[in-house]
Amino acid sequence: MEHRAQLHDVEAAAHSGASPQQLDEALADGQAWVVGDWQEAALEGYALVAKLPFDAELQAIGVLPARQGQGIGQRLLNEAVAVAKRWQAERLLLEVRAGNQRAIALYRQAGFEEDGCRKGYYPAANGATGREDALLMSLKLD
Ligand SMILES: CC(C)(COP(=O)(O)OP(=O)(O)OC[C@H]1O[C@@H](n2cnc3c(N)ncnc32)[C@H](O)[C@@H]1OP(=O)(O)O)[C@@H](O)C(=O)NCCC(=O)NCCS
Repeated sequence: MEHRAQLHDVEAAAHSGASPQQLDEALADGQAWVVGDWQEAALEGYALVAKLPFDAELQAIGVLPARQGQGIGQRLLNEAVAVAKRWQAERLLLEVRAGNQRAIALYRQAGFEEDGCRKGYYPAANGATGREDALLMSLKLD
């Protein structure tokens, strides 16, 4: 299967928050970078990193549900950090749903710190009513 189609499939399964259009633009644009984790020829996870004037932003990270909890997310995050360092970014920034404990644990373990919170930033998950806060996190790069 074509790489682009695989990327869309992994995103649809992992629900990591990137739209198909955002992924296509990233593939076409030198200002953003997609790192992938492959098992043989099958894509199992990806991370999307975008270049900002001084910093870089982790815009999405997702692993196929059946392959979560096996270290792939950690590996992808390390690669995303390496990309940001290559760009000489000062920090790698991200936003995450305040209730996404799994992702927050992954980011904390990698050294990310919490910078703040955006109240009611996301629509509630799983079609529930109300809004969910966004946690703002960053990793200082040297
Ligand atoms: C968040 C995500 C990318 C993590 O990827 P992963 O491959 O499952 O993560 P890893 O196996 O590398 O685990 C890294 C750390 O995450 C945490 N973690 C992983 N699985 C977990 C679980 N079942 N319960 C709680 N924490 C868990 C742990 O801190 C773990 O470190 P440890 O194994 O040393 O304790 C993945 O769960 C995912 O795709 N989630 C859906 C999309 C999403 O929420 N993306 C982030 C928002 S953009």
